[in-house]
Amino acid sequence: MLQQAQLFPQFPLAQPDYTNLAIGPNEQRQVVALGIRLITRSGVPLAVLQREASPRFGRPTALLEVLSPEPSAAAEFLSVLRTQLQTRSVLKGQVVSLTMDEYGSSGAGVTFHERPSLTAADVILPEGLLDKVSDHAVGMAEHRKQLEALGQHLKRGILLYGPPGTGKTHTVRYLLGRSKGTTAIILSGGSLAYIAEAARMARALQPSMVILEDCDLIAEDRSFGHGPQPLLFEVLDAMDGLDDDADVAFILTTNRVDMLERALAQRPGRVDLAVEIPLPEVQERAALLELYAREIAFSAEAISVTAERTAGTTASLAKELVRRAVVAAALAGADVADEHLLSAVDELMADSAALTRSLLGSGGDRHGLDIAE
Ligand SMILES: Nc1ncnc2c1ncn2[C@@H]1O[C@H](COP(=O)(O)OP(=O)(O)OP(=O)(O)O)[C@@H](O)[C@H]1O
Ligand SMILES: [Mg+2]
Repeated sequence: MLQQAQLFPQFPLAQPDYTNLAIGPNEQRQVVALGIRLITRSGVPLAVLQREASPRFGRPTALLEVLSPEPSAAAEFLSVLRTQLQTRSVLKGQVVSLTMDEYGSSGAGVTFHERPSLTAADVILPEGLLDKVSDHAVGMAEHRKQLEALGQHLKRGILLYGPPGTGKTHTVRYLLGRSKGTTAIILSGGSLAYIAEAARMARALQPSMVILEDCDLIAEDRSFGHGPQPLLFEVLDAMDGLDDDADVAFILTTNRVDMLERALAQRPGRVDLAVEIPLPEVQERAALLELYAREIAFSAEAISVTAERTAGTTASLAKELVRRAVVAAALAGADVADEHLLSAVDELMADSAALTRSLLGSGGDRHGLDIAE
């Protein structure tokens, strides 16, 4: 029975406050926002005060306070709780991104995402490239026992680099789809500052993937500190901090590999596979057009003419060409036909459209949440 303290009459004893928190992409659970639980463990009473985070009022994280007449019981309770937080966390096996909120870095929140469901046929890359990346990121963990038996480390770092719009993020989405049950933590732009937190979560919630999108942004940004690229080095240190046998894959993407190279060379061993995601060659451009025009009966000739005429463009441009053809046909009140595709090519490949092409190349959201749309 809890006695009302006379000392603080302004805080009368009342029922707990509840709040709803996300526990999955489309799921919420009611949890205690402010309340005390009175429990007994092995005959020892414990009072557990639970308070939600409130960054606005200077409480960046949720708080738990434990009171017991036997201090060792409180310590033991906390240690069991910590273990269970790791093994039974609602984050385990989910795809989440860590986001900055308006109160600054201390109020880091977790956003759940639907796991993407791309198949290998949705990703058009030079022969063998997708398998290579996928074997390293996902396949390796499937042979965990064998690697361990032979004393080989499981922790791995993959760098995907190449021009904007070639499919680095798209490839990551495919990997996420292929690794059901794996916890994925996505950081991008400013939220890369949470790398230490992400690495801790990744270790606790193994098997995991830590996705570091557009790493060049932090190589570029000196505002995070005084020395050169402090945050980038922090990222690399976090990668090194995990045990070798941690089933954690770090996947870095960048379209400015030149900016990362020096840092990577100074901290060798973090990235054990660097793969260029190149601009598509003519046969890949044709495959991309076929992929994005699945529903449309363009002739083989129109596809091949388009592929020939779009040398040097990105994968995302192929998608845009199909979209423009569909829009042009709709505006003209006609069915989509070869002529619409070919005039979209004329339009986008004109010298005057150089800026548009380059803007289209930069693909989706620079802040990376396009991974898990
Ligand atoms: N190789 C590809 N196969 C199929 N579709 C692709 C491919 N590359 C890009 N796309 C399409 O273009 C869109 C943009 O590509 P994506 O975001 O993966 O580019 P990126 O390489 O991550 O670029 P950035 O460097 O700007 O982040 C994708 O969502 C996808 O629809
Ligand atoms: Mg990207």
